[in-house]
Amino acid sequence: MTTIPVTTAAKSYAVNIETGLLVRVGTELAKVWSPRQVAIVTDTNVGPLYAQQVRERLTAAGFRVTVLTVPAGESSKSWAQVMRLIDALSAAQLTRSDGVLALGGGVVGDLAGFVAAIYLRGIAFAQVPTSLLAQVDSSVGGKTAIDLPTGKNLVGSFYQPDVVLIDPQTLTTLPPRMLVEGYGEILKCAALVGSDFWALVQTVAQPADILAQAAPLIRHSIAFKARVVMADEKEGGQRQLLNFGHTIGHAVELWGRGRYMHGEAVAIGLVQVARLFAAQGLMPAELTNQLRERLMAVGLPVEFPVDLTTTDLLAAMHHDKKIHDQALTWVYLTAIGQPAMHAVPLANLATWIAPVTAK
Ligand SMILES: NC(=O)c1ccc[n+]([C@@H]2O[C@H](COP(=O)([O-])OP(=O)(O)OC[C@H]3O[C@@H](n4cnc5c(N)ncnc54)[C@H](O)[C@@H]3O)[C@@H](O)[C@H]2O)c1
Repeated sequence: MTTIPVTTAAKSYAVNIETGLLVRVGTELAKVWSPRQVAIVTDTNVGPLYAQQVRERLTAAGFRVTVLTVPAGESSKSWAQVMRLIDALSAAQLTRSDGVLALGGGVVGDLAGFVAAIYLRGIAFAQVPTSLLAQVDSSVGGKTAIDLPTGKNLVGSFYQPDVVLIDPQTLTTLPPRMLVEGYGEILKCAALVGSDFWALVQTVAQPADILAQAAPLIRHSIAFKARVVMADEKEGGQRQLLNFGHTIGHAVELWGRGRYMHGEAVAIGLVQVARLFAAQGLMPAELTNQLRERLMAVGLPVEFPVDLTTTDLLAAMHHDKKIHDQALTWVYLTAIGQPAMHAVPLANLATWIAPVTAK
């Protein structure tokens, strides 16, 4: 088992990664939690696959278990589900000595984490992420959130788990498109880190290689995210680096209204930001090709959709939550493993992005 320690101002916890770890989920949880009542929060896809097994392992380890299931999908990050879950925790008489265990993808993690943060002003929380995106990204860092009709992740809190237990074996049941889109975030991290991590992604030449290399890919990604989060828990400096590819990616995702999954839009964002910064003379041109090659190897999109106009792209960019002081900070690379940042005033944005959007 690989253990990656995460230390934040709020608490220190371990991210444990091992193929087959689910079999030991009870004993692993018992290392950080005394016997108590545990509410497993899962969704309608993951629950039927894994909840029974996790319930049995937890019961065998001395926990009393309730399973709460929400509909699969982003729409469960809602006030309605928060209220439903909180009512269920209260009905099951969970106290401040009990805990919430998220078993699922990023939706379940974000929702269950938020519920754990506010129920009784905060009860213990742990994560068993089951999607690639959740295993490499959302389960570490302590961000919890739900969506509002006006936008994603608009209500939430920073709330760290007591432990994160990752079993890459769960990825074998993940739909292929979701496996590949999760890899978009991994490739972003590999480009930011360089060295061994960048060497590892050179071995991912087709979608099947993502599964074959899942454990080392997850280890590298979590180690990087943990480093960034420890340096910058609440997103002032270092954590902004994680935004590489996201300024364009978020805009494409928003504009597409569901056409692109997050990791797919980020893949477009990574290649287009590289093209843009190469055109501005700030990024070596060959990096665009290197990123494009790696992303295309697994079938991720890299080009702007033909029907996306510059006006639409700019409009979507103006919704970016990372706008500060009327400027957008872009992350780019001076070389693989060498990230840098560049702020562009909103007033200059149209001129700034013209090299990649002029058609
Ligand atoms: N908190 C953070 O730091 C952070 C970071 C990135 C993304 N997020 C959030 O994460 C969410 C996206 O996460 P996601 O892509 O995991 O979405 P998701 O939770 O909706 O999972 C994707 C789909 O895969 C299914 N699934 C998950 N694991 C499975 C498995 N092992 N086998 C079969 N099906 C499985 C789910 O039921 C769902 O249908 C978004 O809401 C996003 O805002 C949060």
